[in-house]
Amino acid sequence: MMKISSLIACIVLFISSWRTVNGQLCPAFYEKTCPSALSTIKAAVKQAVAKEKRMGASLLRLHFHDCFVNGCDGSILLDDTPTFTGEKTAAPNNNSVRGFDVIDNIKSKLEAVCSGVVSCADILAVAARDSVVELGGPSWTVMLGRRDSTTASQGSANTSIPAPTLNLTALISSFRAQGLSTTDLVALSGSHTIGQARCTNFRARIYNETKINTLFASSLKANCPSASGSGDNNLAPLDRLTPTFFENNYYKNLKSQKGLLHSDQQLFMGGSTDSQVTKYSLDQNTFFKDFAAAMVKMGNIKPLTGTKGQIRKNCRKPN
Ligand code: HEM
Ligand SMILES: *[C@@H]1O[C@H](CO)[C@@H](O)[C@H](O)[C@H]1NC(C)=O
Ligand SMILES: *[C@@H]1O[C@H](CO)[C@@H](O)[C@H](O)[C@H]1NC(C)=O
Ligand SMILES: *[C@@H]1O[C@H](CO)[C@@H](O)[C@H](O)[C@H]1NC(C)=O
Ligand SMILES: *[C@@H]1O[C@H](CO)[C@@H](O)[C@H](O)[C@H]1NC(C)=O
Repeated sequence: MMKISSLIACIVLFISSWRTVNGQLCPAFYEKTCPSALSTIKAAVKQAVAKEKRMGASLLRLHFHDCFVNGCDGSILLDDTPTFTGEKTAAPNNNSVRGFDVIDNIKSKLEAVCSGVVSCADILAVAARDSVVELGGPSWTVMLGRRDSTTASQGSANTSIPAPTLNLTALISSFRAQGLSTTDLVALSGSHTIGQARCTNFRARIYNETKINTLFASSLKANCPSASGSGDNNLAPLDRLTPTFFENNYYKNLKSQKGLLHSDQQLFMGGSTDSQVTKYSLDQNTFFKDFAAAMVKMGNIKPLTGTKGQIRKNCRKPN
């Protein structure tokens, strides 16, 4: 599971005052400085998901939207202020991303047991894994040692987070720009086997597209009026059958033209990714293995390590 290099980084860590080596993350980062960090996060995620299953999906998405904007640095968690406009109100996030209260709750618990030690960016990475596990998906070893940014970029959030209107070529480029492969794109998109989307993001698909199951499209129209501006925030499950279970049903949906988003169906429309979709639809173990590997890769996007950034005391604002 772990690469030899990360094991070495962790060993060196023990003798070099708790800094990541050469900017590398490692799984044991908090073992000495905050031994209860992982169990604290897991318990809080378990509680939040028990209260509302969708929260597992929302927490997974937060980590994705954090990592795609200048790396996994907790930037998405910074609140707007009168003098600062951050990522929360960027186009892909506004009225859409959620789970900030859960992260605040985790952060305050961690500050109580080991103040100033666990970064908000690492909380997001661990909470994403714990959420997937809680909803029945695969587990993986989360690499740790990310530090938090002191700023955020709305412009970069607007352009770096892929839009649901993208075609396959553009989706591949968007992931490629983050160092993620086409295989990673197809595996990570399996996240859409949980959670919900707003009418504004699938309206054009259900009213205007032909590569969609007709009954599926018409059943969605009842709660998503065609006129732009009406019912924009009405929700529909990304996987209609089992929206709170993490399995390979997403890929089965794509095979029957029941992808909710335009971008979802792009992965199975006669193009280069069809075979991978078919494979995952038939073989959940391979999907789980590839998904876990891709999550580790995504979690490695441009982390702030060493003396860069800071450990925020409150995830909503720089120290
Ligand atoms: C491949 C490109 C992707 C596109 C275009 C995309 C787009 C979207 C859109 C439009 C929504 C619905 C948002 C709303 O209507 O408010 C959504 C939801 C979601 N996305 Fe993605 N997404 C992509 C990849 C990913 C990845 C890589 C992950 C995680 C690793 C992910 C996790 C989720 C989850 C879990 C939800 C449901 C969130 C909730 O219910 O709160 N997505 N996505
Ligand atoms: C975010 O959503 C709110 C409420 O719908 C809206 O008033 C605001 O203009 C939106 N912000 C941006 C930057 O689009
Ligand atoms: C990001 O997109 C929103 C919504 O389209 C827009 O209001 C805002 O000005 C954009 N921000 C930047 C910095 O480009
Ligand atoms: C995909 O979208 C891009 C950007 O909108 C466009 O330039 C390109 O022609 C599209 N490619 C295909 C194959 O439709
Ligand atoms: C469907 O396409 C037509 C023609 O391009 C456009 O006028 C209409 O607004 C679209 N409807 C939706 C719901 O996207």
